[in-house]
Amino acid sequence: MIKASDFGPKFTWGVAAAAVQIEGAASQYGKGPSIWDTFAAKSGKIKRNHKLDPACDFYHRYVEDIALVKLLGFKVFRFSIAWSRILPQGRGEVNQEGIRFYHNLIDECLTQGIIPYVTLYHWDLPQALEDEGGWTSFSINAVFNAFVSICALEYGDKVKNWIVLNEPFGYTSLGYMLGVHAPGKTGLSNFFPAVLHTALAQAEGGKILRAEVAKVNIGTTYSCSEILPYTQSDNDILAAKRVDCLMNRLFVEPAQGMGFPTADWDVLEKFQMEYGTWRLQDRMKFDFDFIGLQNYFPLTVKYNAFIPVIQAWEVKAKGRKKPHTAMGWEINADSFYNIVKQFASYPHVKNIMITENGAAYHDKLSNGNVVDAERIDYFKLYLAALLKAKNEGINITGYMAWTLMDNFEWAEGFNARFGLVYTDFHTLKRTIKYSGYWWQEFLKA
Ligand code: BGC
Repeated sequence: MIKASDFGPKFTWGVAAAAVQIEGAASQYGKGPSIWDTFAAKSGKIKRNHKLDPACDFYHRYVEDIALVKLLGFKVFRFSIAWSRILPQGRGEVNQEGIRFYHNLIDECLTQGIIPYVTLYHWDLPQALEDEGGWTSFSINAVFNAFVSICALEYGDKVKNWIVLNEPFGYTSLGYMLGVHAPGKTGLSNFFPAVLHTALAQAEGGKILRAEVAKVNIGTTYSCSEILPYTQSDNDILAAKRVDCLMNRLFVEPAQGMGFPTADWDVLEKFQMEYGTWRLQDRMKFDFDFIGLQNYFPLTVKYNAFIPVIQAWEVKAKGRKKPHTAMGWEINADSFYNIVKQFASYPHVKNIMITENGAAYHDKLSNGNVVDAERIDYFKLYLAALLKAKNEGINITGYMAWTLMDNFEWAEGFNARFGLVYTDFHTLKRTIKYSGYWWQEFLKA
């Protein structure tokens, strides 16, 4: 049986969440609208037309929620700052109530002995900035930098652990290429400029934190998925390589000073020429103290000439019947181990934290209990794979479970339950699931 102590006394155990998904109070206390407020209000964008507000009403219940983090035995709470709560228009006038809210939240963490890990951008761009083009616009970098400076100066005395961006591939692809997340834009002419400005933002955000915050620990997070070719044919192998460039390498390599992975995908070469990104290689570079990896599934891909641009298609893994979560995501801890190793192989990756990992199931509250044995099995499998990678010498220093409580799961609305704590979305009552109690025991041993 694997124990928390197997990871060593210095290992950081935490639980993660994000502003949009939990806070509520979306248009209160001076907060301006974010792209997620706008997107979720449109009919047909969120499953069953779920309304975003009040989500978990964390804004009013953060004291009891931090008490839950503590009760479960975690030392770290990772949360994000809603940009439009600080700057309702994205730039310009600062909302003092918003500033105060995050002071109170940070102070409450510290009072309860919980270390805050603060994400600066977890997908909720102020709508006012989206109206100017959002991440596709060149002007986004200056305003993002100004937002980072405000947060660093305001909270830097108390917060030492910062995450610049949450999953840049997540929001640029889902929000600016496929249109299934906010702001709902599509096509490469939106995706590529969003990618470029995001790659600049991750490095420049890091540089600002380094300059403004003493004794700071700076990271940024990446979604990662092992990409497996369907067969060993050259076509499938090359297709897998292209998808790997897109899903795994697109943001970590510019931060390493390597630029975009143009050599393995000619479309990126064209993007580089068109936008002159090679000239920005130095600006995109930053020496992060740690990188956060977030893993949910592997992907098997097959060559398909009819798919524009990427010429690859996701298929069911050959001969492998793996179990899936309620999101339809394959449970495969070996692929988690492999992708962690892939990221660890970059020469400048010094330190890896798993900043999200978890699973959604169709949890039911019955007689006051949520018996989520599958989620416990999931964590056991993934933690064993992580320990294996760590024991092989990879510098893995922390793990954060996704997520504290069931919350607003983006386009899935409230249907996908990832929490260690069950949220009744009518009464907003929280109930610790069996997996929450499992963590409590695990972290004691
Ligand atoms: C995001 C979370 C999300 C989770 C599960 C990650 O991509 O950072 O906000 O809830 O995946 O889908």
